[in-house]
Amino acid sequence: AESGYDLWLRYVPVTNKSLLATYKQHTVQLVFPAGNETLNAAKQELAMGMKGLLGGPLPESAVANKDGTLIVGTPASCREITAQPLIGQLLVPAGEEGYLIRSVLVNGKKCTVIAANFNTGVLYGVFHFLRLLQTNAPIARLSISESPKVKIRTLNHWDNLDRTVERGYAGQSIWKWDELPATIDPRYRDYARANASIGVNATVLTNVNANSKILTAAYLAKVAAIANVFRAYGIKVYLTARFSSPIEIGGLKTADPLDPQVRQWWTDKVAEIYKLIPDFGGFLVKANSEGQPGPQSYGRNHADGANMLAAAVAPYHGTITWRAFVYSNEVPEDRHKQANLEFEPLDGKFNPNVLVQVKNGAIDFQPREPFHPLFGALKKTPEAMEFQLTKEYLGQGTHLVYLGTSFEETLEADTYSYGKNSQVRKIITGEITKQPLSEMAGVSNIGADSNWCGHPFSQANWYAFGRLAWNPSLSAAAIAEEWVRMTFSNDPALVKPVREMMMGSREATVNYMTPLGLHHIMAANSHYGPGPWDNALPREDWKPKYYHRADSAGIGFNRTSTGSNAVSQYFPEVRTRFENVHTTPDRFLLWFHHLPWTFKTRANKTLWNDLVDHYYLGVTQVRDMQKTWDDMEGKVDRDRFAEVKKLLVIQENEARWWRDSCLLYFQTFSGMPIPGGYEKPS
Ligand code: GCU
Repeated sequence: AESGYDLWLRYVPVTNKSLLATYKQHTVQLVFPAGNETLNAAKQELAMGMKGLLGGPLPESAVANKDGTLIVGTPASCREITAQPLIGQLLVPAGEEGYLIRSVLVNGKKCTVIAANFNTGVLYGVFHFLRLLQTNAPIARLSISESPKVKIRTLNHWDNLDRTVERGYAGQSIWKWDELPATIDPRYRDYARANASIGVNATVLTNVNANSKILTAAYLAKVAAIANVFRAYGIKVYLTARFSSPIEIGGLKTADPLDPQVRQWWTDKVAEIYKLIPDFGGFLVKANSEGQPGPQSYGRNHADGANMLAAAVAPYHGTITWRAFVYSNEVPEDRHKQANLEFEPLDGKFNPNVLVQVKNGAIDFQPREPFHPLFGALKKTPEAMEFQLTKEYLGQGTHLVYLGTSFEETLEADTYSYGKNSQVRKIITGEITKQPLSEMAGVSNIGADSNWCGHPFSQANWYAFGRLAWNPSLSAAAIAEEWVRMTFSNDPALVKPVREMMMGSREATVNYMTPLGLHHIMAANSHYGPGPWDNALPREDWKPKYYHRADSAGIGFNRTSTGSNAVSQYFPEVRTRFENVHTTPDRFLLWFHHLPWTFKTRANKTLWNDLVDHYYLGVTQVRDMQKTWDDMEGKVDRDRFAEVKKLLVIQENEARWWRDSCLLYFQTFSGMPIPGGYEKPS
C-alpha cells in the first residue's frame, strides 16, 4: 500500500528503457570516499536511490579508471577531485553550501563529478543528481552549479510540548518529547533527509506561542538528541524563546531586557544550550503580539528585546529572528499598519545578528494578500520572509491548494523600495539590500500522519517552500512539475494535467473563498469554512465585519487616503496604484476600496455580478479538478488515487458551502439577485 511516507523520495524504477540504458552507462562505478557522517549520509542516500531507480547500488572503485565513473566528494575527501584544478576553480563561487555536477574527463575517462567545498554541499549535490534521474532528465552533458540564494532556510514548527500542533492538520507533532532523549524515532532521520533534499537547513522545533519549559535542562537534553540526528544533514536546530522565561523558569521578578540580572540569565541559559548543542541556530521570538509577553511590557521596544538575546547568542554565531507579526487591540488603527508603525522607527537599531521576520502579507496568511508593506521599508535590517505552509485559511488538511503560485506571487511583487525592479525576493536574498544575513521561513505543515502532511498534495507545499528558499527565482510551474514527477510518475499523460491542476488550485480557492480582495471572512476560531457573519468575537479586529464592511451601500475595506490610509506605507508607485480604484488590480479591489454594489468592474459588470461570477467560477474550477483527477485512475497507485478523490469530493462540497453562504449573506446587504443560469444556492 502507498502511504505517502516516502514523500518525493520514492526512488521507483526508471521504466523508460532507453533512458535506463543511458543512466546505467553513466553510473558504471562509484568513487566516493566517505569518512564522516554527512558524507556517509550522502553515500547511503545515493545507494538507496540507485537501488530503487536503476536496480542496484554501484560497484565502488578507488580510482576513475572506466568511462561512466561517478565521482563524489570535496577536494578534501576525494583525491580524484583534488587532482582536478578546474573543479577547484569552479567551486570557488559555490561557497559553503553550493555544489557542482559536471560531466568531465578524468584520467581520460568520461566521468560525472558531484563536488562541493564542504560536506553538506556534497549531500545537496547527491540529492540533485538523484532528482535528475527521478524526473527523467538527461545526464550525459551536465554543467550544473548551484548555491543557495538565502542563507537560513527554515521550517517553523508551531508544535507544542504536549504534541498538539497550533494550526496543524496532519496529526500530532512528530517530536515525541515524552520518549526523548532515550528513544530516537527513525522518523527524525527521514525528516532530515526530506529537508536536506530540498535544501532546508534550519528548523524551529517549537511554537511561536512559546512555552518556557523548552528551555529547562530536561528539555534541552531532548532538543540535543534531535540536533544530533539532524547535524549530519546540515540542519541546525532553533527554538522559540518565551520572553518571560527568566520569570517563569528562572525565578526572577522581571524579564526587563535592560535589567542586568535578566541579561545574565539569558547569557547563562545560552551558554548551557551551546554546551549541549554546539551548532545551535538561535531563537525565534513572537513578542507583544496576541497576548505574548515582550519588551513593551517593561516600556522597552522590540530592538531592546531582540538585542538582549542577540548579544547572548552572538559569541556562538547564533541569530535572533524577531517576528513583525505584531498587533494590538489597543491601537485604534487598521491592523494592516501596525508592523510598519512599530518597526520602521527601529530600523538601524537592531544588532547585526537580528533578522525581522515578516509574514507575506500584512493581515494573516489569507488566501490572497498583497505583499507586506514592511518589505523594503527597513533599509538597515535584514528582513526574513514568513510563509505559511499549513493552510490555516485555505481549507487546512482537506482542500487541494498548491501554494507555489502564492509564494511566487509575493516573491515577484515589486516593492519599488529601491526603484523599479525591487521585487520582494531581492529584499529577502539581500541582492539589493546588501544585507549579509538572509532567511526564508515556512510555517510547517508536518505532523505524525503517515503521509506527513495530511493531504497528499500538501506535501507539494513543503517541497515548493524548500525549493524557493534555495532559489526564490524558480518558477512555481517548474517546481510543481518536478514534484509531480517525483511523487507520482513521469507519465506525460499524468504530469501535464496534474501540474496544471495544481497551478490553478489556489486561484480556485481564492474564487470560492475570498474573491476580488475579500479577506478575513472565515469562521471564527477554527478558521475553517465561511463565517462573514461570525461577529461575536472579543476583539473588533477579529470580527469579519471589520474587514468586509458590507452594508447596503457596498462592500470592501477603504485603505486609501480617505480611509485607513494603509496604502501610505507602500512606496509611491505602489501606493498610487492601490490608491486609485482604476489602477488597483481586481484581485485586491475590496482589499483597498469600499465600493458600491453597482460599481462597474473591469469586466464591465456590476460589482455584485462580478462577485457572484467569481464564487461560481471557483466551484466550477474544483469540479474541473475532480475531472482531471478522475482521469488519473490507473496512472496513480490505488491508495493515493482514492484518497485524493475522496478529498476532492469534500472540497467540492465545501466550495459550494463557501459560495452559497457568502453570497446569501452578502445578498442581505446588496439586495441584488443571483443572475439567471446559475444553479440555486442552497
Ligand atoms: C495567526 C494564527 C495563530 C498564530 C498567529 C501567529 O493568528 O491564527 O494561531 O499564533 O497567527 O502567527 O503568531
